Amino acid sequence: MKVEMKRLSVDWLMEIIHLCIERIVIVDRDGMIVYIDEAYSEFIGVSFDEAVGRSVQDVIENTRMHIVAKTGRKEIEHLQPINESVMIANRYPIFIDGELVGAVGTVMFPDPDNVRHFQNKMNNLMEELNFYKKKAVNELTSKYSFDDLIGNSHSFQAAKTLGKKVAGSDSSVLLTGESGTGKELFAHAIHQSSVRSNYPFVAINCASIPEVLFESELFGYEDGAFTGAKKGGKEGLFKVANRGTVFLDEIGDMPLSMQSKLLRALQEKEVQPVGGPKTLPIDLRIIAATNRDLMKMVEEGTFRQDLFYRLNVINIEIPALRKRKEDIEAISNNLLQKLERKFYRKGTSFSPEVVEKLKEHQWPGNVRELENVLERAINVLDGTTIQLEHLPLYIRDQELKSNELKESPDNETPPKNLSQTPVQPLKETIAQAEKKAIAHALEVVGGDKLAAAKLLGIGKTSFYNKCKVYGLSGS
Ligand SMILES: Nc1ncnc2c1ncn2[C@@H]1O[C@H](COP(=O)(O)OP(=O)(O)O)[C@@H](O)[C@H]1O
Ligand SMILES: [Mg+2]
Repeated sequence: MKVEMKRLSVDWLMEIIHLCIERIVIVDRDGMIVYIDEAYSEFIGVSFDEAVGRSVQDVIENTRMHIVAKTGRKEIEHLQPINESVMIANRYPIFIDGELVGAVGTVMFPDPDNVRHFQNKMNNLMEELNFYKKKAVNELTSKYSFDDLIGNSHSFQAAKTLGKKVAGSDSSVLLTGESGTGKELFAHAIHQSSVRSNYPFVAINCASIPEVLFESELFGYEDGAFTGAKKGGKEGLFKVANRGTVFLDEIGDMPLSMQSKLLRALQEKEVQPVGGPKTLPIDLRIIAATNRDLMKMVEEGTFRQDLFYRLNVINIEIPALRKRKEDIEAISNNLLQKLERKFYRKGTSFSPEVVEKLKEHQWPGNVRELENVLERAINVLDGTTIQLEHLPLYIRDQELKSNELKESPDNETPPKNLSQTPVQPLKETIAQAEKKAIAHALEVVGGDKLAAAKLLGIGKTSFYNKCKVYGLSGS
């Protein structure tokens, strides 16, 4: 027999509802229960007769049916605690002929199979995460050896020899030198030739960690140490580096408050995680680096003297590139080989004029600046020989510029041969001016980045970003 929709009897409708949804409740506009099915009433422990005609709030825990019956807005997949289990509730307003007359609600248990499936998936992900975490720690090894430090000049060789000599000892090393001279490279090499080479090498840039996070980053924190702290706490970098080497880059930028905490950790050979009573023993070798004059900072009271002596057991001063011009060609060739691999090029070389130009330049950003200049050159290179035209204008024209300056000391007067100067994209001119201003500011304040940023009237982060772009940063 064919059954037409509008002729569905109440019995049919009831049976269909019963089959489709296990637990259902219907209320009128005032939130009074007009219907509740057997499964639901059984679940909450009231009979059909007890429930019907009563306010839904008196019968069902945490219900919002009376609200939906008033607002006319449906609520889907709400979590609703009932009888100590959390149910998933769907609540729909009922409109008849466009008029809000009540609401119908269903609740169901989250499918236990689904929950189990979800849990399995989470467990697998956690396992995977732990695996990679361990792996990441294992990969905290040094990447460079002394063979990667190119340069035969007397001053550079002397620094290298000293580095090799002290690598075997456990003494603290302070690497000093301008930004981009290879301090980080030295730190890697020292770790790699030390007895700690099988343990982690952890580099920490003291200038880029916000002061409020210093302690928790370095020493870790206990579960619930502060709001937003990760559950289960977090291991500090000092603990991660245990038995290995910690490289404290830009140590001159470490705030005073942190300096005393660092000193204590180094003296006691233990760290105290934030929010925890217990201390953890640590066994570390410290290599620190800075492009600032720490002695002067000690005199000025911005760097702790006791910490300075603790770090400065062995000082290796890495000479600026302009003071070892004989190394420029060898380093350039070495960098070019690296860049060839990076850019899938082969057989590139420098024209003799380029080599001359590179030797003439003053390199305020040292090897990092040289690296940037060569990367730019290889990017704009069509053939295989790097010519003068592939160098940025500020290097190509340095002689021209210094002549111009000599000719017209008054900056207001335009140089006579301006029309002969090739026009370059505005962006490049602006970039050159910006770089010059930053280098100048750094020079004026003796490498103090915070002070330089202040002088220039820009924020610390923006300043660091720009330094990176122009190869002027120490990190
Ligand atoms: N002697 C060198 N030979 C080859 N590459 C070098 C040398 N010195 C520095 N570099 C390269 O120059 C860049 C800057 O060196 P880095 O160690 O970060 O300098 P710093 O820490 O002193 O600012 C790095 O990419 C590094 O590989
Ligand atoms: Mg550095």
